[in-house]
Amino acid sequence: MSRVKEFVEKYYVERRNTNSLKWDALKERFGDSELLALWVADMEFKTPECIREALIERVDHGVFGYTKLPESYYDEYESWHKKKYNIDIEKKWIRFAPGIVQAILWVIQAYTKKDDAVIIMPPVYYPFANSIRNSGRKLVESPLLEDNGVFKIDYDTFEKQIRENDVRLYIHCSPHNPVGRVWTLEEQKKVFEICERYDVLVLSDEIHQDFTYGDNKQISALDVDGGRYNKRLIVANSGSKTFNLASLVHSTLLIPDEDVRKVFDKFSKENLGAEPSLLGQIALEAGYREGHEWLEGLKETIVFNYNLLCEELAKNAPEIKVYPLEGTYLVFLNVEKVLNGKTTKQFIQDECGLAIDFGDWFGKGYKNYVRINLATSPDNIRKAIERIVKNCKIS
Ligand SMILES: Cc1ncc(COP(=O)(O)O)c(C=O)c1O
Repeated sequence: MSRVKEFVEKYYVERRNTNSLKWDALKERFGDSELLALWVADMEFKTPECIREALIERVDHGVFGYTKLPESYYDEYESWHKKKYNIDIEKKWIRFAPGIVQAILWVIQAYTKKDDAVIIMPPVYYPFANSIRNSGRKLVESPLLEDNGVFKIDYDTFEKQIRENDVRLYIHCSPHNPVGRVWTLEEQKKVFEICERYDVLVLSDEIHQDFTYGDNKQISALDVDGGRYNKRLIVANSGSKTFNLASLVHSTLLIPDEDVRKVFDKFSKENLGAEPSLLGQIALEAGYREGHEWLEGLKETIVFNYNLLCEELAKNAPEIKVYPLEGTYLVFLNVEKVLNGKTTKQFIQDECGLAIDFGDWFGKGYKNYVRINLATSPDNIRKAIERIVKNCKIS
């Protein structure tokens, strides 16, 4: 049996009627509970056995009182990052947050003042822009440029926007959701050099770090030029994408510089006082210790789904542009040429019956794009392809 078939048979689960946002909020979010859900970034796969066993053991113990992180937690966290990304994380850098979106809000609030400018590179994960706006900061954008079917960084615009708006913070998405890029060393160096020149703090959201494919290797911002940019850097990561743990509300901020840490700690003392999630911490430690093989099976399944989508659309709906999947489990598509006067929603949702993330959620100018979540069964991806192809032929 192929590894993909084995993985799907073992881990795929029906999620309707389990209080799943993705499947059970379709009516609220899209107005139609019967859509095929390929939107929000979680998966239809059970977490690895090692995580479930560790959680069951703890639940069976039956006490959920105040807790202390064991040394073994830090050992597994540090060893995962050392082995996979060759970064040496020091325990004193680590702070916790219930989620990365929460962490982004905290960083915006701790390091910038009202009306300060914060820059992002759309199309990008929409809570970046929402968090900036909702915190009363000025949203500044440096859109990615599409060059021969690949999204690239526009360094001139990035620098100009920083200079003209006196930007204080840049939120880096690495790997980049939704365009699927894994930034190279050169690309990151150029961006961080600009940030250094204008004394801009970098928040690098690396939540998708464990999803890269082929020759695309994740380089953490912490490892760019041997840590040269660590003086003005905060990295946010978590196991919530890696092991499908979003609702266990446990994520990490890494703050290597002592002065930058002091600012966070002061903010935390005055505003937070939160404890890390016990179950989140147990799940992550178990996943980092023993979840590697499961993750490899998952990644093969995602690549299988991506190849299926590319091959079938190239054959039957070649007008749809599918962007390269270097990282993440989210594929970006341009459907402009098959719309024939319809809106993207009319085509994708009303005709094809799919709940996806619409391009215009990620920034102005992307209304003909969609993002599809590939972390599901090949059967679901096949169904989506069939509906797209059928409706392209009709229109
Ligand atoms: C780039 C990025 N950051 C953060 C998140 C959400 O993180 P959390 O659930 O920890 O708030 C997502 C989820 O899709 C994401 O894609």
